[in-house]
Amino acid sequence: MKIWRYDAARGERALKEYEFDAPEWATLLDCLDIVKDQIDGTLSYRKSCRMMICGSCGMRMDGAAVLACKTRMYEIAEAGHVPTISAMGNLPIVKDLVVDMNPFWQKFHAMKPYLQPGYERPDDDREYRISQERMNVIHKESLCINCGCCVSECNAMESDPEFLGPQALAKGMRFVGDPRDGATVERLEQYSSEHGIWDCTRCYFCNERCPKGVDPRDAIAKLGAEAIRVGIDRDMGAKHAKWFVHSAKSTGWLRETELVPKTQGVVSAISQMKFAMSLARKGKVPPPFPPHAARDVKESRALHDLVSEQGRDGALGIVQGERALGRIEFAKEHGEEEREE
Ligand code: SF4
Ligand code: SF4
Ligand code: FES
Repeated sequence: MKIWRYDAARGERALKEYEFDAPEWATLLDCLDIVKDQIDGTLSYRKSCRMMICGSCGMRMDGAAVLACKTRMYEIAEAGHVPTISAMGNLPIVKDLVVDMNPFWQKFHAMKPYLQPGYERPDDDREYRISQERMNVIHKESLCINCGCCVSECNAMESDPEFLGPQALAKGMRFVGDPRDGATVERLEQYSSEHGIWDCTRCYFCNERCPKGVDPRDAIAKLGAEAIRVGIDRDMGAKHAKWFVHSAKSTGWLRETELVPKTQGVVSAISQMKFAMSLARKGKVPPPFPPHAARDVKESRALHDLVSEQGRDGALGIVQGERALGRIEFAKEHGEEEREE
């Protein structure tokens, strides 16, 4: 394997290649141990549990974040591929594969990751019981082991290091979705501020790279839905989302022409008129009036009303990515055609 070696103290960086034998069951972490034990004792990396629980061994393999102790190497070696190992992204490198986790923990602490007092205690003074349905909403968020793999691959953090990021926001949802927490609105206010919920670019890399199935992007979607549910919708991102719903319900389409004034306000929209006119000249803007309604718009409205009747607003209305994908995979496996309804 190749490993990017780096020494922040000296500012030296070098890609070194190592060749060694390893048992068939070896993980990436086992391989690093072999390199350190047998070839170069100065190699630095973090580890502890060796069983995907402590979150210490996050790093990149071929440019994508992985947990070293979860990554089996046999098939990679069999294929003749020489993987390149490097430190996680979006965090300063201290040495070799060790990053400075302080910025990560600062954001974690900023979320106040513990239950806030203020909830009513049950009358019988026994434990506070939560329904399974409510617990399902935060089940995945509770699985986070703070490894930082999602943060490593976050596009929004790359362009804005102050963005709270997928791990911190997923942790925030773990408490926003907990009915015992007494600070739901305060949390949603905080998370809806600049560098918060609405700065996520929805690239979904955090979902893709999380080794524990937390799906942080889904958590951020739930936070957005909860913020709108309690009326915290001042951010353009929230206005954008609300317009999507209104537009889909009223016409069955996403009416892009009205998206900018509805999201940014009329004054800001006027400042973009020149750009809009150039799009219109190239035939990219359909005439706004009369609004074009889809032929089967009644179905779109019926779907909206059904979801409203079910009371699935806020986080309860977010379709979990894994379940949606699971259903698609199931349909494919069983040769089911896409259903028209
Ligand atoms: S979906 Fe959002 S939070 Fe997740 S990696 Fe992309 S920008 Fe970051
Ligand atoms: S959300 Fe997933 S990738 Fe991110 S820190 Fe938690 S366990 Fe790691
Ligand atoms: S060593 Fe603990 S998660 Fe890998």
